[in-house]
Amino acid sequence: MALFNFLTQEIAIDLGTANTLIIHNDKVVVDEPSIVAIDRKTDKVVAVGKRAMQMHEKTHENLKTVRPLKDGVIADFKAAESMIREMINRIYGQKKPLFPPRYRMVICIPSGITEVEKRAVKDSAEQAGGQDVKMIHEPMAAAIGIGIDVEEPNGNMIIDIGGGTTEIAVIALSGIVCDQSIRVAGDEFTLDIVDYMRRQHNMLIGERTAEMIKINVGSALTDIDSPPDDYAVNGRDLMTGIPKQIIVSYSEIAHAIDKSISKIEEAILKALETTPPELAADIFKTGLYLTGGGALLRGLDKRISQKTKLPVHVAEDPLRAVVRGTGIALKKMDTFTFLMDE
Ligand SMILES: Nc1ncnc2c1ncn2[C@@H]1O[C@H](COP(=O)(O)OP(=O)(O)OP(=O)(O)O)[C@@H](O)[C@H]1O
Ligand SMILES: [Mg+2]
Repeated sequence: MALFNFLTQEIAIDLGTANTLIIHNDKVVVDEPSIVAIDRKTDKVVAVGKRAMQMHEKTHENLKTVRPLKDGVIADFKAAESMIREMINRIYGQKKPLFPPRYRMVICIPSGITEVEKRAVKDSAEQAGGQDVKMIHEPMAAAIGIGIDVEEPNGNMIIDIGGGTTEIAVIALSGIVCDQSIRVAGDEFTLDIVDYMRRQHNMLIGERTAEMIKINVGSALTDIDSPPDDYAVNGRDLMTGIPKQIIVSYSEIAHAIDKSISKIEEAILKALETTPPELAADIFKTGLYLTGGGALLRGLDKRISQKTKLPVHVAEDPLRAVVRGTGIALKKMDTFTFLMDE
């Protein structure tokens, strides 16, 4: 029996637009950006994760970087499969097992996904070595990950703001009662910043620089209590073509991303409107839970709270809530009714 246990490994995967995380033996063993670098001539994968991210937007004609997911779903099947396979291999580091193990896995998917998109996730997980692959909706995993007892007859609203999608779901009695999924999230904020720098400062910047701006001085409000220092941005002048530096403040960036945040607010209001009254009563008491990397944006909790007049809680370690919940679902694979086979 021990031998078979050794051969069958259990893993939980959060395959995200921005980041992919894997839990094995209760530990997060992989936490890497979802990106692969590919040699254009041979079609071989040159690098995956952090290393590939370092190459992003710096490649020459023989090399390209691919983000296999877009808006929460697989956009490049082959790249996704190579990425998952490579990341699973990293579980063992240098100590590769003698026999390739079989994997039982739980992998999460956005709640707004189509049947075809769902099939693509399952197929790539199987291609990458998964034998018994179950799926879980991302907001459900997030709820479990932040410690909510999803089987209780209490309504809870989860707002997961990732890279590609914002998913808003009301969860009760092991199911998603109502949800809204929009393709506006962290990536969109980043694009807003690229756009803003071009229009306002005549400056071209790359995606990674825009993301650094977002993390260092991004804000959902133009006026916050403990503001971050201004931030120096390097890029290329649109007029002269020469590299230059511009200093930006958080309130400028708040203006740049304001419209996208309004779209998220609208989706939250829509989700609240469609919530059955008994569950709305629960949510009035407990408030809203924010997860995903977008939850880290300065002032976002306050802004949503002002808009909805409800308390807003930011999950502890919001970037890992989904994978933690997926890991718990993995352990209860046989009893959780909401895990999907297909
Ligand atoms: N401190 C921060 N402030 C603002 N945004 C942040 C911060 N840290 C990370 N992010 C953003 O969070 C996003 C990634 O979040 P997360 O890892 O939850 O997404 P994902 O699960 O990969 O995407 P999805 O769930 O949409 O498929 C990125 O857009 C990243 O720029
Ligand atoms: Mg996610």
